[in-house]
Amino acid sequence: MKLIFLGSPGAGKGTQAAVLRERQDIAHISTGDILRENVKNSTPLGNKAREYMDSGKLVPDDLIIDMMEDRLARPDCAKGFILDGFPRTVPQAEALDLLLGRMGLELDGVILFEVPEELVVQRLTGRRICGQCGEIYNVRFKDTKVPGVCDRCGGVLQQRDDDKEEVVHRRLEVYEEQTAPLIDYYETKGNLVRVDASQDGDLVVKDIEKAVGKR
Ligand code: AP5
Repeated sequence: MKLIFLGSPGAGKGTQAAVLRERQDIAHISTGDILRENVKNSTPLGNKAREYMDSGKLVPDDLIIDMMEDRLARPDCAKGFILDGFPRTVPQAEALDLLLGRMGLELDGVILFEVPEELVVQRLTGRRICGQCGEIYNVRFKDTKVPGVCDRCGGVLQQRDDDKEEVVHRRLEVYEEQTAPLIDYYETKGNLVRVDASQDGDLVVKDIEKAVGKR
């Protein structure tokens, strides 16, 4: 299974990718997670990306495309993958088409996560992530048994810097300007599948599997 997860910040792409990765035994490639790891370790890529990410802007295409060429060549992608947060601009989508062509691979679908903007703002400002195992929670929709402590591993929960309300609004504007044009791009190619991602998470994953199974 080779899928792209497309949708606004906070639409639930990372949450559903973590579920499908386990169920389908495929790689979950989140450009946001790779970049945050690079920022944390102050790598040359992380140092270049930090300022863009903190202000809610996109990291330049050339850095992202190089990063993804390396990532897709790794052996864990052989069984399939979910691209979560990539591509995010038309030049990135064109670069991905070329790369997949060179690798002799074809996408099974592009899943568009549809969620109203008010709900997305609530989800993002309420999101907390375990600093140890990466499990995603939400103080409004999926809280932990003990406040601030991960149910799974006991790690301390953290809030992403770009989940502060003022940055969230900037990220949503950037999504509309630079990423939403990909909806037409993939609709024209005939591989876009729309999913109502405002419903309960269990229903979202079922809808994705049903839609991909039909294709
Ligand atoms: P990235 O990390 O990719 O962030 P994003 O796309 O903005 O997406 P999010 O992680 O915020 O949302 P999500 O859809 O995964 O939601 P989640 O499942 O966590 O990118 C961060 C930054 O990196 C970018 O701003 C940019 O600077 C840079 N970057 C990354 N990729 C790039 C690229 N390709 N090009 C250039 N720059 C790039 O869910 C959110 C919350 O909602 C959680 O708390 C969750 O528990 C809750 N939730 C989810 N689903 C449900 C549900 N069904 N019901 C109730 N609650 C739910």
